[in-house]
Amino acid sequence: MALLHQFKISDGRVTYKSRFLSSDSYQSNQEHNRIAVSEFGTINMPDPCKNFFQRFLSRFELPSEYLTLPTDNANVSFVTYKGDYYVSTETNIMHKVDPETLKTIAKVDWSKFIAVNGATAHPHTDPDGTTYNMGNSYGRKGAIYNIIRVPPTKITEEETLEGAEVLCSIPSTDKTKPSYYHSFAMSENYVVFIEQPIKMDMLKIVTGKLRRKSISDGFSWNPKLNTIFHLIDKQTGKVNSTKYLAKPLSTFHQINAFEEDGLLILDMCAADDGQTIANYKVQNLRKSGEALDEVYNTLCRVFPRRFVLPLKVDRDTPYDQNLINRPDCTATSKRIGKDKVFCTHEDLHGEDLHQYGGLEFPQINYGKYNTHPYRYFYGCGFRHLVGDTLIKMDLHGKHMKVWEHAGLYPSEPVFVPSPNATEEDDGVVMSVVITPNKDKSTFLLVLDAKTFEELGRAVVPVNIPYGFHGTFNTTA
Ligand SMILES: [Fe+2]
Repeated sequence: MALLHQFKISDGRVTYKSRFLSSDSYQSNQEHNRIAVSEFGTINMPDPCKNFFQRFLSRFELPSEYLTLPTDNANVSFVTYKGDYYVSTETNIMHKVDPETLKTIAKVDWSKFIAVNGATAHPHTDPDGTTYNMGNSYGRKGAIYNIIRVPPTKITEEETLEGAEVLCSIPSTDKTKPSYYHSFAMSENYVVFIEQPIKMDMLKIVTGKLRRKSISDGFSWNPKLNTIFHLIDKQTGKVNSTKYLAKPLSTFHQINAFEEDGLLILDMCAADDGQTIANYKVQNLRKSGEALDEVYNTLCRVFPRRFVLPLKVDRDTPYDQNLINRPDCTATSKRIGKDKVFCTHEDLHGEDLHQYGGLEFPQINYGKYNTHPYRYFYGCGFRHLVGDTLIKMDLHGKHMKVWEHAGLYPSEPVFVPSPNATEEDDGVVMSVVITPNKDKSTFLLVLDAKTFEELGRAVVPVNIPYGFHGTFNTTA
């Protein structure tokens, strides 16, 4: 169940508080004293699903109201829309929360505002506060990927997603099996949708309850398919007719994207295999020793990669030759069809990252460098099923700085710039470090972002579960 945490640094003191999200799922599970609402990897057996299946079969089309992933257990990230804080998962329900008290203010349903059945937990925000996200809808013509735009400001205090609009809709190639996406990339002028070969079988997902299978059972990796990058113009909502293809990859988190010299530079954490999700089942996480090692060894490592997409592809663009002429860049892009460009990536790391098990949970100096050329990113190394090191990558030379201590497991690093900073890495990196060792404590770690030296830690005498994403604000 989503547990909201807050470390507050004020007047030389650090305080900590946490509160369970008061979601319907939480309340229902409390009432039943068991998992009564299905989550991604867990399944309950409610009564109405028989009717549900019959209706599905009788119409033999996808009834959109049943395709909504039902949980409102928003346990993935804190996000902001119009300056307000929300907690989000990937369903149609978010919760508006008070970042000071962590109390739940309002349940907000995307589908009440626009025709989508959910949205990712990783929206992108322009400097003016306009926010972009993506969410699917399901209709007679099958699954559709939608680009969403939410205006930057509120008119009334109580409002939530009023003014949200679908900027553009892209039909899924396979009507009943859209690709799963956890996030997307955004440059100054484009939203980049990455259609990866992790497929969601909507029939399986809809009928999962009858078959006693969880939502995750409807997910599959199809390595026969290419990955497709779709570019959507943020101003016009027009989808670029050129499709950029790459070999099958799986990606959860993008690092940054920016335009330079007629190219779109797309940086992401990616793996060659997309079966990772299934390995994070609770049955696996409960293993230990060799059995746990075995699970870890089956995981495909995730590494930072760069794709470079030529923005101008027209009748004069030559075929079958590398269109990327950028100093020291090993990424390639070749035109292979009228509207098709095939891309290969450049590794955004040296050999030394292999010993840290790859890198995930990438973060940058977002406020100043998102959608712009940048030099540094931060992330977690993964020599275990959870992150066990903090890494700073310098793209000039691909050198790393590493924070590591045996038995300590840091969360996603959050970069906070110094006031009036002029250099990209002038600031601190914060991470919540947990440990399974009973004689050690959980703490908030603060590193100098420049040197990666520890500036301090604030120990809290409570157990904190492993979490996904954090955020920093100065106003709460
Ligand atoms: Fe995420």
